[in-house]
Amino acid sequence: MKVPDIIIAIDGYSSTGKSTFAKLISKDFGFLYLDSGALYRGVTLFALESGFIKDGDIDLERLIPALDGLDIHFEDGSKTYMGQRCIESEIRTLEVSGSVSPIAAIPQVRCYVDKKLREFGEKGRIVMDGRDIGTTVFPNAQLKIFMVADDNVRAQRRYDEMVAKGETPDFEEVLKNLKERDHIDSTRETSPLRQAEDAFVMDNSDMTLHEETVWMRGILQGRFGILDPRA
Ligand code: DC
Repeated sequence: MKVPDIIIAIDGYSSTGKSTFAKLISKDFGFLYLDSGALYRGVTLFALESGFIKDGDIDLERLIPALDGLDIHFEDGSKTYMGQRCIESEIRTLEVSGSVSPIAAIPQVRCYVDKKLREFGEKGRIVMDGRDIGTTVFPNAQLKIFMVADDNVRAQRRYDEMVAKGETPDFEEVLKNLKERDHIDSTRETSPLRQAEDAFVMDNSDMTLHEETVWMRGILQGRFGILDPRA
């Protein structure tokens, strides 16, 4: 039996490997993968380029009205666009990463992003990752997963990614940044990062990608009686 037209919501802390896992299962099941953080990153890029963020201060009086005319969307499957421009690499820079958590804490920005995410969810057959997908965006998602991993393991993953990109990070700085982001994401007033009560928790501190796939197939079998997701 094939996986039905469901929404799979994957939430969790930064650098727990949510997007890698979400991409893996979307490929395995033939679902569309959508990265909700990319929309928050797109709004952040827009705010930086428009001069709405100066020395860490966000000009809310200019940013909030500008959201009305802001066109950030996904195209070609899962690529992020601002108008006609593909912004997939610009939204992954350190500058954007450094400003995105405060932008994602603004209620009007969350409302803007949630509306777009829900439009994508109408047809089902999507795997979406983020911080509040199973709690706020799709509280009725048929399958919710909450990912956690040890702080040092997560920082090491982030560190290795940065080294692979040719950067020269300091491990302690990476760890500090990760904890700061977790703190902002889980203590903000609107839709803080938290585990949905009906989510399956995956601690992947010591898991390989193959083990994650096996874990997921176990969940599918237990929950939906599905042995082979594509058969
Ligand atoms: O997953 P990411 O690092 O690309 O997310 C970027 C930021 O957006 C991060 O600070 C958390 C925030 N975010 C959020 O608040 N809610 C989501 N559903 C997805 C991301």
